[in-house]
Amino acid sequence: MNNRMRNIAIFASGNGSNAENIVKYFQDNKDITVKCVLSNREKAYVHERMKPFGVPTITLNNEIWKEATGIAEYLKSENIDLIVLAGFLSIIREPLIKAFPNKIINIHPSLLPKYGGKGMYGIHVHEAVINAKEKESGITIHYVNEDVDGGAVLCQKKCPVFATDTPETLANRISELEHFWFPRVIENILKKNT
Ligand code: GRF
Repeated sequence: MNNRMRNIAIFASGNGSNAENIVKYFQDNKDITVKCVLSNREKAYVHERMKPFGVPTITLNNEIWKEATGIAEYLKSENIDLIVLAGFLSIIREPLIKAFPNKIINIHPSLLPKYGGKGMYGIHVHEAVINAKEKESGITIHYVNEDVDGGAVLCQKKCPVFATDTPETLANRISELEHFWFPRVIENILKKNT
């Protein structure tokens, strides 16, 4: 890596535990920083989570997300190297994908292609895994393209599913995996590719 700071933009729609975890992980890093958080929900808890860290958060309305070129221009002007989707529940439109080729990644709380696609988000994923009596689940970190949960896989990590699990206990196990691996995968990408 040369000396230039690597800048991350996080997109989040909800709770923001991954966003906070990523900010904390890079807090003392001289080369990598979280520059901003973009959201499509004003009431998302991620805004609260960012306050103690001084990371600016912006809520953009649906029109702006749909049009997407304004967002791409803004992120270019902020010298963003990587866009990280952390619980972002809106489709990423083509202008943004074209402006940041192979520079947008997402995390999904299952072993894709299983339990991905439309309607598969949050607790619904874990309910489906338990209903299907799966013996294992896990996380997938992947590049983002036009297909929901369809881009090339960067990393998958597994965990067991126990007969006694509820969607909530499984969600907690998955969350631990996410918090350990997501910042490390981000760090690797930024060290290799920029
Ligand atoms: C995570 O489980 C992630 O895999 C999925 O959305 C959830 C976000 O959780 N894409 P949080 O908002 O980071 O707590």
